[in-house]
Amino acid sequence: MIEYLAETGSTNADLLERVRQGERVSEGNWLVAERQLAGKGRQGRTWFDGAGNFMGSTVVEVRASDPPPASLALVVGLAVYETVVAIVSEPGALALKWPNDLLLRGAKLAGILLEREGDAIVVGIGVNLGKAPDLPDRETIALSALGPAPDRNQFANSLARQLDTELERWRTFGLPPMIRRWELAAHALGTELRVQPPGEDVLLGAFAGLDDSGALQLRLPDGEVKVIHAGDVMLAREEG
Ligand code: BTN
Repeated sequence: MIEYLAETGSTNADLLERVRQGERVSEGNWLVAERQLAGKGRQGRTWFDGAGNFMGSTVVEVRASDPPPASLALVVGLAVYETVVAIVSEPGALALKWPNDLLLRGAKLAGILLEREGDAIVVGIGVNLGKAPDLPDRETIALSALGPAPDRNQFANSLARQLDTELERWRTFGLPPMIRRWELAAHALGTELRVQPPGEDVLLGAFAGLDDSGALQLRLPDGEVKVIHAGDVMLAREEG
């Protein structure tokens, strides 16, 4: 079920509040807003309020039998990738960037914010369908750069179906096939990355795939492979 709102602060904040109030938000239910006046991004950033873009959130229950919850970031990234790749005809134009940004022609097309409250993980997704923000520190793009912007409600239906499918695969077949698919959908091995782990110095290195838990492996200039569990990752050719 998809509930549409004309305007709200943040669909993530709304669902977190519902969970905190003890409301049961079932998996498969979504809250989608036309406008977000206080949209939240990762690392305390704000998220662009682009009318007609996809801005929506849903909830995933953490179950004891699930793969590690942190790997949900990859699962949601794959769901967004598969939804978008079905409507993008430019070969090789789309790429996932760890942990779950989606790039189109190397610029940011979509972002994902996961926030946990008890056994519920609120999954927020923003996809630039018609408009992209001008940001000083990173390139952004909207699907309208390739042709007419997709219809927001049709996009929401496809994404909701795709996330159901990916969650079922994750729970049924486990993490290893998701990691392999994620790597195939990502930028090439060897891509130069600039990584900012929280509270640490910036690292420059080459993408060396993911480890068994889904963490990022970065090959440093001295050949050491460093495993990154959290941080902000940019393609080295991006600014900022
Ligand atoms: C990122 O910084 O890349 C994550 C962006 C997540 C944005 C979405 S839009 C819908 C949901 N509500 C929010 O306030 N944020 C997420």
